[in-house]
Amino acid sequence: MTDDGHVPWWRDAVVYQIYPRSFLDTDGDGVGDLRGIERRLDHLVWLGVDAVWISPFYRSPMADFGYDVSDYCDVDPSFGTLGDADRVIAAAHQRGIRVLVDWVPNHTSDQHPWFRESRASRSSPKRDWYHWRDGRDGGPPNNWRAAFGGRAWTFDDASDQWYLHLFLPQQPDLNWSNPEVVAAMHDVLRFWLDRGVDGFRIDVVHCIGKDPAFPDQPAELGEVDRVGIQNEAVTHELIRGFRRLVDAYPGERTTVGEVNLGDLHSIASFYGHGDELHMVFNFLPLHAPWTKAAWCDIVERVEQELPPGAWPTWALSNHDVRRIRTRLGDEDAARAAAVLLLTQRGTPFVYQGDELGLEDAAVSDEHRVDPGGRDGCRAPLPWKPGARHGWPTANPWLPWPPDADARSAASERQEGGSMMHLYRDLLAVRRASPALRRGALQLRDAPDDVLAYERVWGDDRRLVLVNFGERAVDLGLDPSWRLDVASGPQRVAGVLPAHGAAVLRGAT
Ligand code: NOJ
Repeated sequence: MTDDGHVPWWRDAVVYQIYPRSFLDTDGDGVGDLRGIERRLDHLVWLGVDAVWISPFYRSPMADFGYDVSDYCDVDPSFGTLGDADRVIAAAHQRGIRVLVDWVPNHTSDQHPWFRESRASRSSPKRDWYHWRDGRDGGPPNNWRAAFGGRAWTFDDASDQWYLHLFLPQQPDLNWSNPEVVAAMHDVLRFWLDRGVDGFRIDVVHCIGKDPAFPDQPAELGEVDRVGIQNEAVTHELIRGFRRLVDAYPGERTTVGEVNLGDLHSIASFYGHGDELHMVFNFLPLHAPWTKAAWCDIVERVEQELPPGAWPTWALSNHDVRRIRTRLGDEDAARAAAVLLLTQRGTPFVYQGDELGLEDAAVSDEHRVDPGGRDGCRAPLPWKPGARHGWPTANPWLPWPPDADARSAASERQEGGSMMHLYRDLLAVRRASPALRRGALQLRDAPDDVLAYERVWGDDRRLVLVNFGERAVDLGLDPSWRLDVASGPQRVAGVLPAHGAAVLRGAT
């Protein structure tokens, strides 16, 4: 909140993540596209989300399915054209939905013209746009390991040097200590801001600053991939640079950064003093066991460890991890998790398909395509029952998720108690309740396996109850508490079945 009490839109928002390859195909190549997003925006209106984050749709050889960008200012033909991107932005805005796009600043594709030029010779004007080093004792310059396995350096025969890549060899890291790189990447931000996007999700932003000495990582971390460790002070200065750029645009443009550093203390540092990222992803729930103790700890720590003014974020799934429904292995628990997600203090991010309760697809060896083993959570969304599920082809780039007929958006829309209706109900309650959107959060004592917290704003009070246990619980609550939403068919406030959750409204 600003001093005059104004709340920027992104603090009040629920953001829906679109993984465009798997949202909806319209041209029959089996890969989702921008027109598919435009065609299904009304699904998002029906659900009640406020914004979308669209994973990369830029030109890319697809070694990492779009996170290897070969032109930041054009659309990959498999997704459509720049004109299609403009149409999606305009169509979303017409419906009151804001649009965040993905910005991938740490690395480009090895097919990006910048890298091709950099690689061409040691004297190339773009040589220093990437990290090139001589080897050490006939091997790479240091002991860093890349995400997805292997070392973080690849040898280039032609120029007899190694280049750095914290991800695949096809994803060389940009050298952000070079002011030309900073200027070129700022131009990318301007390009999309000028086209009207409302902000950026920023890929592995904690990795962009590097120590030019490239020291070895300690032996005890020998096999740990560098992405979970990389954390240089200079990164904060770089972030302040693009924060100033984004803030100079009208319309409360925003940023949400991916910081894969595991501990909240490091995550918190990326908010700076209100001059770095507007939001930072909090990935703790992606790895938390389904227990009261684990969730109590997360909720408490987010309240205690984020600096005042730092607005938290919440996510249960994304395109990099197994879906919440798969991790929990239980429908009731997945429904209770939706209640947890959408009643926290902070901006929730819903991964496409979680609102349908999708499980990961079983992907056989012959269908596996992702170097990081993440195909299951990226299965295409089923829009309708039937062989093609609303897509133009029955065999899209990845297999369908389990129970795709019953889990399709059309089937769930017709079924009153479906997961999709639960998400919609929760979103509606959140939207109508200042306490849920903005209010303070206080944990309350509760028996057994029940996690309880209250959200309060003025005279709006909500009590959230989540039963992590296998047994039903009757909390014997004061009858003035009214049931707003329940995760299942329960209809009595304060009575929770096993793995049941509820949002209650206090008497005013
Ligand atoms: C994080 C993205 O979410 C992931 O999908 C990608 O593989 C890496 N960053 C590299 O860009």
